[in-house]
Formats: sequence, structure tokens, C-alpha cells
Amino acid sequence: SIENHLRPRCLKDYIGQTKAKENLKIFIEAAKSRGESLDHTLFYGPPGLGKTTLAGIIANEMGVNIKITSGPAIEKQGEMAAVLNSLSEGDILFIDEIHRLNRQVEELLYPAMEDFAIDIMIGKGPSARSIRLNIPKFTLIGATTRAGLLTAPLRDRFGLISRLEFYTEEDLQIIVERSARVLGVRIDSRGAMEIARRSRGTPRLANRLLKRVRDFAQVKYDGDITREVADDALNLLEVDKEGLDLNDRTILLTLIEKFGGGPAGLDTLAAAIGEDTGTLEEVYEPYLIKKGLIMRTPRGRVVTESAYLHLGLSKIK
Ligand code: ADE
Repeated sequence: SIENHLRPRCLKDYIGQTKAKENLKIFIEAAKSRGESLDHTLFYGPPGLGKTTLAGIIANEMGVNIKITSGPAIEKQGEMAAVLNSLSEGDILFIDEIHRLNRQVEELLYPAMEDFAIDIMIGKGPSARSIRLNIPKFTLIGATTRAGLLTAPLRDRFGLISRLEFYTEEDLQIIVERSARVLGVRIDSRGAMEIARRSRGTPRLANRLLKRVRDFAQVKYDGDITREVADDALNLLEVDKEGLDLNDRTILLTLIEKFGGGPAGLDTLAAAIGEDTGTLEEVYEPYLIKKGLIMRTPRGRVVTESAYLHLGLSKIK
């Protein structure tokens, strides 16, 4: 798919995430020179920052196969056992949303990660016994929105834990320009910067907005993306100057209008906007917090002065 097309395949083509990249470079080189597989690695951070992309790059750089699955997709121990058994020596198993594995399935992973073995129960009742099966040596790459969502025993079994950060506007601009080349659309640097600025620090969003702006440029303009075209298109998509969309603005407005600016508890706020608690906390909040528009306090969520300013509201209620 185009989505995969836009993904870099090598570490040297991967923009941003300097810290994660530097660590990985050393890890990969050391493992390769010893002729070993890479240690189990955990990536955490808000969605869309490139966790799956990095896993694919690692597989490519290590010259191994990658199998991609997710926490909610593996419901039974038997399914996890089958996945582990299907791997070849050195392969990477990528588990997205790894914090959502159920407890039994997660427990099967402990000996798999540590000893490359799984314990399987044979029989039922008093004659039941467990046998240990060896599985190929593999590398588990886990992804989650927050490391704190993992149980301690699972977290402790990763050799490298790497946090992904929101991208700078400059890095996003480079990514947008690269994606435009791949898509075969002309964009000038100010057009790329306009999309970058309004992509919430997130390459996945930048690439999605680029495609929408491209549609717009083709239909309403001559096909090229300039700052004016990008601005026009993004306004129409209701993505504002700071990259906030309708959901983000609803969160801020709800805090202000229904809760006097806060504090409001996470559950209360989620119910008021009709959003799932996890989504509010893992998807929407991180960028609003990074932008200094809301704060997490012990008593709940609070909007800041900047939120009123951003929405063009006076703080007098
Ligand atoms: N496309 C999506 N994320 C990217 C990144 N970090 N570097 C280069 N291209 C990308």
C-alpha cells in the first residue's frame, strides 16, 4: 500500500527520534557483529510516531523476517503458542498494543522471552502436567502508548526500552517533502511547513494531511502545493493553526464550559465528550499537554491560560 510506500526502510532514511535511533544503531551493530539476534525491545509513546516503522527497519537492518500482530488479536494461549512456533531463528515478532494481551497469553511470553521455551499444559484434572517446548530464538518488539501500562514482569523482560517523542516541525517538514516526492506531488518548502506545523508532531497525521491537501490542490488549484493551498485545504478540514481538530477543541471547550476550566476527573471528562477513557488519555491528551493547553493535576484535568487564548475566549466566566 501507499502507507507502506511512505515508510522508510533503513535507519539512515528515518527522520527524527534521534535518541531512539542512536541507541538502536549501536544495538543493531553490536548484535550483528556478535552474530546474535537483537534483545527484546519495547517502544512507547503516543500513536503515529513510528513504532511499527522502526520495527520494520530493525528487521530490514538485521536481515530477518518480521511477523506483525497486536495484543487484542491474540486471545488464547494456543494462538500465541502457534505464532511463536511459526517463527524462524532470529525472526522478529512485533506486538502492537502489547499492554492489551490478556494475562494467560502474557504469562506464556515470560519463558518464551527469557528461555525461548513455552510451557504447555497436557491433560486435565489430577493427571494434568506441563511440558516445556523449545521455540526458535526470536526478538520480541513490543509497542504501547505508555510504558506504565505494562505489568512489571513483562516490562522487565525487555533489554531496551525506548520512548518516542513528538517530532519537531522541521523534521515533519522533511518527512512531508520526502512523502510528496514518493507520491509524485510538487510542494514548496512553505507548503510543507504549513502541513508540518498542523500535524500535531505526528508523521502519520502529516502524511494523511498531505494526501488530503494533494486532493484539494488537484481539484481546486493546479495540483501544486503551496502555503496558500495547504492553508486553504486545512481550514476546510477544520484543522486549526496549531493542528487541533474538532475533537481537541471539544475537549478544551467542554473543560471550559461544563467544568469552569477544571479540574475535571479523566472519567468525568471522557463521559462528557462521549469518548473512551483510554483514547482520551493516550491519543488526545499527550499533544494538548505538550502544547501547554491542558494540565494533569492530582485533582483532575485543568485548561491553561493558553487554551482560552487559543480558542479566542476571555477567562471571565
Ligand atoms: N515517514 C513516516 N515517519 C517517518 C520518519 N520518521 N522518517 C522518514 N519518513 C517517515
